[in-house]
Amino acid sequence: MKVISSIHELRDQMRGQNRTAFVPTMGNLHDGHLSLMRLARQHGDPVVASIFVNRLQFGPNEDFEKYPRTLEADIDKLQKENVYVLFAPTEKELYPQPQEYRVHPPHDLGDILEGEFRPGFFQGVCTVVMKLMSCVQPRVAVFGKKDYQQLMIVRQMCDQFALPTEVIAAETVRDADGLALSSRNRFLSPDERAEAPALAAALNRVRDAVLAGNRDFASVEKDAMDSLAVRGWKPDYIAVRKRSNLLPPGAADADAPLVVLAAAKLGATRLIDNLEI
Ligand code: PAF
Repeated sequence: MKVISSIHELRDQMRGQNRTAFVPTMGNLHDGHLSLMRLARQHGDPVVASIFVNRLQFGPNEDFEKYPRTLEADIDKLQKENVYVLFAPTEKELYPQPQEYRVHPPHDLGDILEGEFRPGFFQGVCTVVMKLMSCVQPRVAVFGKKDYQQLMIVRQMCDQFALPTEVIAAETVRDADGLALSSRNRFLSPDERAEAPALAAALNRVRDAVLAGNRDFASVEKDAMDSLAVRGWKPDYIAVRKRSNLLPPGAADADAPLVVLAAAKLGATRLIDNLEI
């Protein structure tokens, strides 16, 4: 595997490749990321991964400096997955001047759910993904369903800008007790780690209630949030939404495919998860 930090060198290396499958990451790789690399391999060749901790998507109260950086261990893992190139630019390489041109997702998708609690987050994500895609020029790019809203927003961005990149969705990888794998899990204390599967359990209860015919989404969501709050969580949202646009389902949406999305704080760690219904 070649580890490349310069855009110029990456372009030289990738010249003539037209089936590239790309997996952008912020590093601190776990089995969830590695499953994205394996899915990428099924959809293209060569596989290119990136590691870049993107300052633009961190809010003023989110600790960009503390984000775990584990490049050597990440390189070992990617090598075992037969990744062809790891693009790991420095900040100076990717943002040599302040990034003044930005991609703004539409308000009705970018400023709800995660976007409401993390203002500017999806603008930072879209801007860096657009830039990374412009560097790598992939035919496909793989994004995890774990970050469901991110997946939808990036897919629509590619669509609206007619980018030649198809976005492929990867299923969420979970530990045996149901906890979705996330780089943030490493911040959980042993007690919090034992409690953490309660989030997925709450989502499962919402799914079961909706599948059993309960269309009073507001009360199903409230019950789920209350069930976490009594256990010491601070839920930001648990929301049943239409998969197509992440808006709340209305009376006319009886057959619309749904997803339930959640974000909640356990101690100092904010976890997100979702489940298709
Ligand atoms: O999901 C992530 O790790 C990041 O949001 C991404 C897509 C790599 C952009 O920085």
